Amino acid sequence: MSTPQNDLLLRAAKGLPVERSPVWLMRQAGRILPEYRAVRASLSGFKELVETPERAAEVTLQPVDILGVDAAIIFSDILVIPEAMGLSYEMVEKRGPHFPQTIRSEADLKGIRIAEPESLNYVYEAIRITLKGLDGRVPLIGFAGAPFTLLCYMVEGGGSKTFSTARKMLMQRPDLAHHLLEMITQSSIAYLKAQVDAGVHLLQIFDSWAGILSPDTYRKFSIPYLEKICRALDSTVPITLFAKGAHFSYSDLAALPCHTIGVDWNSPPDEVRQRVGPDRSLQGNLDPAVLYASGKEIAEQTRSMLRAFGKNRYIANLGHGVYPDTSPEAVKIFVETVKTFQHD
Ligand code: CP3
Repeated sequence: MSTPQNDLLLRAAKGLPVERSPVWLMRQAGRILPEYRAVRASLSGFKELVETPERAAEVTLQPVDILGVDAAIIFSDILVIPEAMGLSYEMVEKRGPHFPQTIRSEADLKGIRIAEPESLNYVYEAIRITLKGLDGRVPLIGFAGAPFTLLCYMVEGGGSKTFSTARKMLMQRPDLAHHLLEMITQSSIAYLKAQVDAGVHLLQIFDSWAGILSPDTYRKFSIPYLEKICRALDSTVPITLFAKGAHFSYSDLAALPCHTIGVDWNSPPDEVRQRVGPDRSLQGNLDPAVLYASGKEIAEQTRSMLRAFGKNRYIANLGHGVYPDTSPEAVKIFVETVKTFQHD
């Protein structure tokens, strides 16, 4: 793997000196760009786009070309792992993912398997094509969902406000939950290693539903599996852990062998820094709704975020994915403000 010309993201993740903070946006590939919607409209839908490497690479490159971000993130979805384990999903227009079959019993578990990493060859191929298109300009980020967040979808069968069916399993059948979490973890480790072999420069693990658990439950059902993933990857590339809403877990996450901790917008940067300590980088955390404000307000709030996090060990981002109806112009103001900011 060669080092990109712009390696700010990798240096910031490793705690090396940077001239300025790198910036990218969670969910930057797709959603907000008319150029993405045009590619998507030319295909049968979201899944065909994910599974067609040339087109997935094309929409991965769009935000680098159009928005000027300091990293690309491969266009895919966290739900490719459940699918590779034998639980296929549908992406229902305007409603989100739906799993016709779910995992709720021993018999359901017997019907799925640890994913063969080869069944996700289309992702590695998209990574290789993207790297050619990037031509060493910026790093490429690979990703996976955290085992707990994937369990939520596999048990619940789709999105939910409470994921109470998934949480019922944790309470009534912890044995089943741990078995499923272990299978997801093994599947994800092989998948992430294959992404590294294909050339990604950094990995992010999305624990999007971390915040629905209590500190104790999170410690039992998520942290041990994140730890296994970090240990198995063994610093081949820097790893970012993003546990949305799990403010109680910052010190636990920082104790894992990862490089960066993602921060959502409900957390004050100085408090997170105190809990995480000086040896991990932080990433975040502008409220995605700020991108609905005036250009002046976006620039001001971005600058105050940059001041609060400080120059070192910091990657500028939103506190969660960019909302689909955000104007690309607002995103450009955010990106440019980070790129031109000078610390006193
Ligand atoms: O960051 C990027 O731009 C790379 C691509 C990416 C997608 N999904 C593409 C996508 C990434 C990193 C994801 C991760 C993902 N997927 C997460 C974790 C991050 C988070 O937001 O918490 C989750 C929970 C999912 C599951 C998922 N995929 C849901 C709930 C939905 C429907 C709602 C939504 O966000 O749009 C998706 C669909 C999806 N994944 C879209 C995109 C661009 C929209 C599909 C479309 O084009 O219509």
